[in-house]
Amino acid sequence: MKTRRIREGVRWMGAVDWDRRLFDSLIPLPDGTSYNAYLIEGSEKTVLLDAVDPTMTDVLMFQLEDVPRIDYVVAQHAEQDHAGSIPEVLEKYQDAHVISTPRGKGMLIDLLCIDEGRMITVEDGETLSLGDRTLEFIHTPWVHWPETMSSYLEEERLLFTCDFFGSHLATTDLYVTEEWRVYEAAKRYYAEIMMPFRRVIQKNLDKVTQREIEMIAPSHGPIYDQPAFIIDAYRDWVSEEPKSEVVLPYVSMHGSTEKMVEYLVSALAQHGVKVHQFDLTVTDIGKLAIALVDAATIVVGTPTVHVGPHPLVVYASHLANILRPKLKFGSVIGSYGWSTRAVEQIADLTSNLKLEFLDPVLCEGYPREEDFRALDALADDIAKKHQEHGFSG
Ligand code: FEO
Repeated sequence: MKTRRIREGVRWMGAVDWDRRLFDSLIPLPDGTSYNAYLIEGSEKTVLLDAVDPTMTDVLMFQLEDVPRIDYVVAQHAEQDHAGSIPEVLEKYQDAHVISTPRGKGMLIDLLCIDEGRMITVEDGETLSLGDRTLEFIHTPWVHWPETMSSYLEEERLLFTCDFFGSHLATTDLYVTEEWRVYEAAKRYYAEIMMPFRRVIQKNLDKVTQREIEMIAPSHGPIYDQPAFIIDAYRDWVSEEPKSEVVLPYVSMHGSTEKMVEYLVSALAQHGVKVHQFDLTVTDIGKLAIALVDAATIVVGTPTVHVGPHPLVVYASHLANILRPKLKFGSVIGSYGWSTRAVEQIADLTSNLKLEFLDPVLCEGYPREEDFRALDALADDIAKKHQEHGFSG
């Protein structure tokens, strides 16, 4: 992909990774991703903002063939998908220095063995003159590592944010054209990467939006030329109030738990409560993460395997626990053969969430009439709790 002009003297660079399907050996990428870098050529100095994943260094180096000089490489984030090719850039431009936050400096040295003598650190709010352009560095920690920062090109009102506001989406669109598609990709990104830092992201959101912003240019996915789209979405996702929604991840081995899940989902729907149901044997874990962004309640459906929950349920519970969504209520439903400690173990696995647990419904073998009545009571209880707290759909 060739470089693309954004404004006079400002170009998109980087690589579109169409076929990558897994990130950090953990996160599914159904739509690939991109590693966006940006070149800003001022009247006196030239800056490269971020780089690309080491697997695509050759793409960036090809784009830099017609760039005779780079004075600074701004490393907004030390993770390898943006900083991994900086050593090659420094090799080509022997006079270039790397700019990062003080915290980022140590991480770049540790992770990429960058020579300390070629590094410059910037404080929050510090500016760099490029001649006719000015770049302001805004510390935005924990989006999603401690060293992350954003950069604001004052004259053009462009905000560069690296992972913050990003979306894992491979596309030839320089700007957002299909809002629904980018919305889902950005929400998935938020859910999997940013959600554990929701409170600090609230602060970072307030901080960066004090500037007048004409575009937000992240380092994954398309550029937001209508920045209110993603700012409003983030404000909704990081808000304190969940929606009247239930997430129901489950596994069923012989059909009993599945029968209970189907019954409870129907009962909740009768109350007007939206339910996101996920069979964990087939679900994309990113879809589960997306559903956790807004939900007020999680109900885990599990059979019993050696007294505890099914291992896939253990994984999903642990994932919810570390992603720290704004869930308020929890419960467990399922079937067991002769004994179970599923409820206690799931409560332990989700301790970060500080859930109020509602009465579980566990039955021995196939569910019977009294079990369906208990599921009705659980649905009533969930609907009542959501209503009492004023959660809306
Ligand atoms: Fe896109 Fe945290 O790296």
